[in-house]
Amino acid sequence: MTNSFAKDVLAGLTAKSKYLSSKYFYDDNGSRIFQEIMNMPEYYLTDAEFEILSMQSKQILEALEFSTPFNIIELGAGDGFKTFKLLEYLVNNNVNFNYVPIDISQEAMDILSERLKKRLPGINIKPKVGDYFEILSANKDSDYPSLLLFLGGNIGNYLQDKANELIKLFNDNMKVRDKLLIGFDLKKNPITIHNAYYDKHGITKRFNLNLLLRINRELNADFKIDDFDFYCHYNPITGEVKSYIVSLTKQRVNIKALNKYVEFDYNELIWTELSKKYALDEICNLAETNNFKLKSNFLDCKHYFADSLWEKLP
Ligand code: AVI
Repeated sequence: MTNSFAKDVLAGLTAKSKYLSSKYFYDDNGSRIFQEIMNMPEYYLTDAEFEILSMQSKQILEALEFSTPFNIIELGAGDGFKTFKLLEYLVNNNVNFNYVPIDISQEAMDILSERLKKRLPGINIKPKVGDYFEILSANKDSDYPSLLLFLGGNIGNYLQDKANELIKLFNDNMKVRDKLLIGFDLKKNPITIHNAYYDKHGITKRFNLNLLLRINRELNADFKIDDFDFYCHYNPITGEVKSYIVSLTKQRVNIKALNKYVEFDYNELIWTELSKKYALDEICNLAETNNFKLKSNFLDCKHYFADSLWEKLP
C-alpha cells in the first residue's frame, strides 16, 4: 500500500481504541468547513489572533530586533488572512522584507499571491508549494535573518512528543537569532472552550464526519453517515479538547480499497482530534526545552490567545 492515507486509516481503524488523524480533515471539502468554523462567533481563536496581529504589529516588529532586510516565512499560510494586518503594517512603514508563504496547496498560494499583490502592491512575495522542511532547510543559507510564523494555534493539534519534535525541527532549520512567532490557544473559562468545539450549529460535527465521507470517496468505503455522531470533551486540568466520532449502532463497514471490514460496537468511539490549550508557563517550558529564548508573549485583550515570540539560541 503506497498511499499514506490508506495506511493510516487501516492502522487507526484496526487499533484496539480506534483513531483517525485530524491532519486528514483538510481535503477540499474539509478546508471549506474549516473556513465556516473560523467564521463562527463561538470560535474565538481566529478573532483573537487577528486582533493581536492588527493591534500589535509595531511591538512585534520592535521585538524582532532585526536590521533589514529580513525574511518572513509562514508555515501553512493558507489564504493568509491573519497575516495580512502584520504585512500591511510593514509595507506601509517601508520595512524591507521578503514574504515567503508556504503551503501544500498550489491553489491557496495562487489566490494569496494575487490578493496580496493587489492589496499591497509594494510587497515582495515568493510563495512556495511543498513540504515545510525541504523549503525551510534553504533558510539556513539565507544571508538575511528570518522570522518563522506558525499561527492559528496549530501546535495544539500535536501530542506533546510530536509538538516537541516539530519545534525541534523548526529550530534545526533556523539560524542563531532567527525568530519564531507561534500561536497558542490559552486555557480559559471551560464553557468558552466547550462552546467553540461542541458548537450548537453542528459545523464541527460536519467537519469530523467529513473524514468518513473522505474515506468513502477515496477508499471506496460504505460508511453511513447518519449512523455516526460527534462528541467532544474539554478537560480544564490538562487543557485538552478531545474530539470523537461515535458509532450509533453496532455495525460493519466495508472499506473496499483496504480489503477490510471494520466492526463497530454500539457507542464505540473513534478519536479524531486533540486541541490542546496552554498555560503561559507551559509555553515557556516548550520554548526552553527546544533551545529557544522566549522574548515576548503578545496576547489579545481578553487573554484568550497568545502569539509567542521565540529566539533561537546558539
Ligand atoms: C486547526 N486547528 C488549530 C483547529 C483547532 O482549533 O484545533 C481545528 C479545529 N478543530 C475543531 N475546530 C477547529
